[in-house]
Amino acid sequence: TYVVTENCIRCKYTDCVEVCPVDCFHEGENFLVIDPEECIDCTLCAAECPVGAIFGEDELPPEYAGYKALNAELAKTWPLISAAKAPLPDAGEWADRPGKREHLVL
Ligand code: SF4
Ligand code: F3S
Repeated sequence: TYVVTENCIRCKYTDCVEVCPVDCFHEGENFLVIDPEECIDCTLCAAECPVGAIFGEDELPPEYAGYKALNAELAKTWPLISAAKAPLPDAGEWADRPGKREHLVL
């Protein structure tokens, strides 16, 4: 499965949603997650994210290891998002900033 990691937080560009051929993405206030039970490993979303937030589970950087379980857990309760929308208003300011995990709104 593919996993959304920290760099999505406070950006939420949603380009990933547009290319996903199945219903994988679930939306929180300032982050998206992938439902591992829906992902078919097509790889398309990873290349589409402008901030490189998505990785295959086998290539997850060690510092983002916890995001695999986080995606699976949040996908169970967050609502499905099936169409792209505007990014968060200050996405540009938050792109590529380190240490965004503490800003995740659950
Ligand atoms: Fe959807 Fe493909 Fe990304 Fe999985 S890898 S979330 S199927 S776009
Ligand atoms: Fe997030 Fe990148 Fe998708 S910022 S919403 S994972 S395009």
